[in-house]
Amino acid sequence: MRRKMAAGNWKMNGLRSSLAELDKLARAHPTAKCDLLVCPPATLLCAAATTCGNSAIRVGGQTCHDAVSGAHTGDISAQMLRDAGATAVILGHSERRQDHDERSEDVRLLAQAAQAANLQTVICVGESLFQRQATNTLDIIGAQLSLSIPDSSTGENLVVAYEPVWAIGSGMTPTPDQIGEVHDFMRARLEQRFGYGVGKSVRLLYGGSVKPANAAEIFAISNVDGALVGGASLKAEDFSPIIAALE
Ligand code: G3H
Repeated sequence: MRRKMAAGNWKMNGLRSSLAELDKLARAHPTAKCDLLVCPPATLLCAAATTCGNSAIRVGGQTCHDAVSGAHTGDISAQMLRDAGATAVILGHSERRQDHDERSEDVRLLAQAAQAANLQTVICVGESLFQRQATNTLDIIGAQLSLSIPDSSTGENLVVAYEPVWAIGSGMTPTPDQIGEVHDFMRARLEQRFGYGVGKSVRLLYGGSVKPANAAEIFAISNVDGALVGGASLKAEDFSPIIAALE
């Protein structure tokens, strides 16, 4: 039985004043029936970890470098994320793939480094609208999975997030059948590669315009173990009902 998971990705949003929202969320969830993760910008990580305190919420980074340390101006290593209080990191988000030319091969190196630093890796995959319209979705997802996920992955240190690029921040979501098709495919691919036990235990999240209004319908889909939430994770009043739908 996989434990459900709700992860919030604040992206490049949030100032110190935003920690008040995290504080509200932490107070609302002193304990939880599912895994809760919030990934604020790196500038807020230390303070966010303190704000979450002993609540059920863990904090994570939004990317990392593959080196442990060195001359990489502006970058942050996995070890630094851990040191700041993170226990997880999002990797290969489509915005990183687009804005920073991260290829799946790069994502795999980052994930190796993160897993070696004992961070849980939330690896993102997803097709563009053009690729979906060309009926290439499963080919794209299959290639991203096999190239982005390192061999060191386990049911504990790997979470996969399916985020169709066209659904992110757009208010558009795939149909339940479309989400189910991709999640079933991802489950089969993970079982093929890692064996039934590990493949069955990796959590598969859906991400892309998840809101309080559509969360329950999405969470009822087979092989959807939770959500990676962007915009709706910024306010406790939006994120809390999504978490409640999962519990
Ligand atoms: O990482 C989160 C996703 O990109 C989803 O963002 O919920 O704002 O569509 P969104």
